[in-house]
Amino acid sequence: MNNPQDHFKKVISHAKEYGFVFQSSEVYDGLSAVYDYGQNGVELKKNIRDYWWKAMVQMNTNIVGLDAAIFMHPTTWKASGHVDAFNDPLIDNKDSKKRYRADVLVENYCAKIEQKIEKEVKKAKKRFGNSFDEAEFLATNGRVLGYREKIDATLKRLGKSLGDEDFADVKTLIEELEIVDPVSGSRNWTDVKQFNLMFGTKLGASAESAMDLYLRPETAQGIFVNFLNVQKTGRMKIPFGIAQTGKAFRNEIVARQFIFRMREFEQMEMQFFIKPGTQSMWYDHWKQARLKWHLSLGMGESNYRFHNHEKLAHYADAAADIEFKFPFGFKELEGIHSRTDFDLSQHEKYAGKKLQFFDSEENKNYTPYVLETSIGLDRMFLAVFSNSLQEEALENNSSRTVLKIPSVLAPYKAAVLPLVKKDGLPEIAQTILKDLQWDFNVIYDEKDAVGRRYRRQDAIGTPFCVTVDHQTLEDNTVTLRYRDTMEQIRVEKKELSKIINQEVATKNWLNKL
Ligand code: GAP
Repeated sequence: MNNPQDHFKKVISHAKEYGFVFQSSEVYDGLSAVYDYGQNGVELKKNIRDYWWKAMVQMNTNIVGLDAAIFMHPTTWKASGHVDAFNDPLIDNKDSKKRYRADVLVENYCAKIEQKIEKEVKKAKKRFGNSFDEAEFLATNGRVLGYREKIDATLKRLGKSLGDEDFADVKTLIEELEIVDPVSGSRNWTDVKQFNLMFGTKLGASAESAMDLYLRPETAQGIFVNFLNVQKTGRMKIPFGIAQTGKAFRNEIVARQFIFRMREFEQMEMQFFIKPGTQSMWYDHWKQARLKWHLSLGMGESNYRFHNHEKLAHYADAAADIEFKFPFGFKELEGIHSRTDFDLSQHEKYAGKKLQFFDSEENKNYTPYVLETSIGLDRMFLAVFSNSLQEEALENNSSRTVLKIPSVLAPYKAAVLPLVKKDGLPEIAQTILKDLQWDFNVIYDEKDAVGRRYRRQDAIGTPFCVTVDHQTLEDNTVTLRYRDTMEQIRVEKKELSKIINQEVATKNWLNKL
């Protein structure tokens, strides 16, 4: 694989060229950090959503779904703390006039030291060969320990300054670390200021009577305010969860990494309501359960790691991210948050209504604690897409571009291709297509030489190509080509559905959990 930056550029151009992701309103030169999903992207996105929904909702009898509105009563956001505390610390460079998140500048500084550690490991691996013990090297090498100490001390100080809202110290830290503006190279920084990320809008016909609303910055609050509705109508007993997927909106200051950080994005969240005092156990449970879900997709165990938060959000008593190795390094993919009873208590206070559970075993009411899992669908899309895109050298000195998307998530499960556009082959291909369509999303292609059609399917990640040729007329067999190995086998038409299903069935993937 080429270097990570080149790979990331390839990811962005491939996503556009093959109908996965387009810049929003491109004809008007686009809208920053807003994207549209094309004909293949929408299928991949739906499959990721379905894979999550199956694992979280349909495979758990104590978790149910919800689809709350994007607009919510404005007091919701006062109660949740978003009006007062959903801020990012921003800093401007006076020379380039560019705006940055102060915490991200410091985190990027630490990421660079992390890269130095990786370099040391690589060098040592080369030097010591097979006898190299990476864990021991990391625990004992003086230079690595020095780097690690620097990272820990820096992040700890950042966490403390942000927690104390001591923004003067965040600026001092940036100055002490001699962080320069990546654009101008200068250290001419403004003070650090707070910036609220919520988008405002208005509800109502006339200016006088209009009500100020916010576009929701997370889907979670729709779940909290419906806690009792679902609990009572679903006769749910604690512990139980409510899950939903849907759009969220944030006026992000730094939004430069394609669909990694967007202003309009989709979340897949689950709030798990538990008995107070059990949060530590459930926190560990959901951390492991969610990591397993990721690992079931087979995208490489070493591409994931946990990052435990030093600085906790206003609602949490413990929090960790599942980070994924994106082309630009390890970054947050999913958050697992122990939210205590913060949200329900706040809504009780602001709405003046009880949001409690009657525990018949203990014969008492209490406000449940909440364990949250929250993953960005678009970020998951980027993780899958960037990990799957590969440039493969072939034996005849050529190469192919292939999207090795986990087949359960692939936009199309099979492509049906008549070898030529005559002799009755398209008609047979059409009957195969119609038959497979009942069970899978299948595509039909009869244009160009079959080799070129195979490449087109490789590029959009179709795991199987089914080719109808003259032999099919004689014995009802077709060629089945596998995307990943390019192996071709001869199978009977009637076997196709079974073979494809074996490879793509959600059950077979999730069963790895
Ligand atoms: N309800 C908790 C919550 O919203 P968060 O850590 O702010 O927590 C959860 O967001 C997940 O949503 C993140 O792990 C990330 O995957 C996704 N996410 C957050 N901001 C995003 C953005 N601007 N663009 C794309 N995805 C985003």
